[in-house]
Amino acid sequence: MLPTSSESTKLPYFGRLSGPASDGVPTHSVEESACLDAATDEFDYLIEKIDRAPFIDEPFRHVNIVNFLSAEHFARVIAEPQITRPRAASIEALIDDLTAQGYEPQPFPGCITSVDDYIRYIHDAEAFNRELLEGYGRELLEGYGLTMRLRAYRSAFLRRLIEFLNGPAFLAALRARFGVTGDATIETAIQKNLHGYEISPHCDTRRKALTYMVNIYSTDEAEEQSIHTHLLKFKPEYRYLYDFWRCNADVATCWVPWSWCDTVKQTNRNNSIIIFRPGHDTVHAVKLHYDHLRYQRNQIYGNLWYVSTNEKYPVHYKQLDLLGPLQKRV
Ligand SMILES: [Fe+2]
Repeated sequence: MLPTSSESTKLPYFGRLSGPASDGVPTHSVEESACLDAATDEFDYLIEKIDRAPFIDEPFRHVNIVNFLSAEHFARVIAEPQITRPRAASIEALIDDLTAQGYEPQPFPGCITSVDDYIRYIHDAEAFNRELLEGYGRELLEGYGLTMRLRAYRSAFLRRLIEFLNGPAFLAALRARFGVTGDATIETAIQKNLHGYEISPHCDTRRKALTYMVNIYSTDEAEEQSIHTHLLKFKPEYRYLYDFWRCNADVATCWVPWSWCDTVKQTNRNNSIIIFRPGHDTVHAVKLHYDHLRYQRNQIYGNLWYVSTNEKYPVHYKQLDLLGPLQKRV
């Protein structure tokens, strides 16, 4: 997904194995640290799975691994009270509950960060105010969501898992498998995306060297809901954009209307990971419409971030719309 400007500068978990409580990363007790040291190889199999997984080329080059976490580890993840929450009676109760569990609103594309404004919107869609959207999509979206990011891990197991996924071994494995060169940092976190979260089709900002997502739904029923990331292709009449972005690496990518694309697949499987290296053709999107009071779209979400890019020129989808001025209906 694309970052908002504030997201791109706020990397609370980035590459750290421990940190001061003041920045949201909990410190460890002596006992926990010993536990961390003793378990340093418990997640190495995840790297082996990534190394062995074949690349899939449709609709763009990616890796998609089902049963990413071992059955035992996945069961432990969704058994965590911070991951699986009881049904909430209202949006207010849900927010209070997630806050009590250590979640905080995360600046994220297609989302707002004001809990009050979000609750107002959930109760009354007429309260939608596109001015609350920061960054991309203000002109394209007709709604917004709320992304709640877990800021403090109460479980040593979850903490070890996320620290592994933010650690040097996982970073090195991803870089090697996907051919990422140049300085890059890693950021992995656990998030819940609530109803209304939407990101129009886009390739991801060129600042991202890699994007990955693991579905950690508390029930397989979630696989049937409208909560999954879409992988898309441009419709034939818009495929000139592939060449445009491929040949103009200094021009930013941008969000485009859903009507310019067709969905090829959705990443709906529980305990699956999708990983791709953002490029000129990595068109993906998401639009959540579901009852988030029953369960939430839980994800382990991560990116590798380039320290610098050659991107110089922002662009708006209307500048790239060759068909619009012709008033051609496609
Ligand atoms: Fe994206």
